[in-house]
Amino acid sequence: MANRINVDLHGHQSLFKLKKDRHIISSDLDMDIIEVIKTRRSVRNFKSDPVEDEKLLVVLEAARWAPSWANTQCWEFIVVKSAEVKEKLAETLLPMNPAFNAVKKAPVVIVACAKLGLSGYYKGKPVTDKGDWFMFDVALALQNLVLTAWSLGLGTVYVGAFDAKKAAEVLGVPQEVSVVALLPLGYPAEIPKEPPKRKDIKEIVYLDKYGHRWL
Ligand SMILES: Cc1cc2nc3c(=O)[nH]c(=O)nc-3n(C[C@H](O)[C@H](O)[C@H](O)COP(=O)(O)O)c2cc1C
Repeated sequence: MANRINVDLHGHQSLFKLKKDRHIISSDLDMDIIEVIKTRRSVRNFKSDPVEDEKLLVVLEAARWAPSWANTQCWEFIVVKSAEVKEKLAETLLPMNPAFNAVKKAPVVIVACAKLGLSGYYKGKPVTDKGDWFMFDVALALQNLVLTAWSLGLGTVYVGAFDAKKAAEVLGVPQEVSVVALLPLGYPAEIPKEPPKRKDIKEIVYLDKYGHRWL
């Protein structure tokens, strides 16, 4: 699985070209995606090996290509390599967060931020009952990043349980930008063997109307 995507800035294009050249049918491509999705696990224990900048740029490139509200692309990312800054970020985690060491010790922590007042807005006003959609757009970008990282042999864990205001102070993030999530990234020292159980598809999918079972 690892290294299937060519490690260059335009890796996604290379992969597409490879598939096309070899006349691989689309279901093969789907299986690749499903394999990456299903085998990915949250990794909280990393090797100290550094992550190559080439790979960092590939995962950030994947994030950049996510869809967003009216293509507003409210996301911004801070790549943290400094041990001192990582330590300060780890201190912002809520007590008992199992990702404390992941933030402190991963070779890189990617901090996902969002410019507020763009996603979900039209002519400066929110247009749905949900207000600002920044969490949604940033999540799309991060999931692209996380899945691409996994396909390159890199582990990550989403970290949401932290004090975002304190993290913003540590990083000098201005008020009109929200710190959404921390994402430690590195080569896994340990991958959980058993995936946490998922709900059965029957429990979560309805047909035509809420509550009407399909499967
Ligand atoms: C929005 C979000 C926030 C999360 N926050 C944390 C966190 O603060 N600390 C942590 O250890 N894991 C966190 N996780 C990871 C989840 O616990 C994990 O994804 C879930 O248990 C499923 O395990 P898996 O990722 O291995 O499939 C978060 C995941 C998401 C999607």
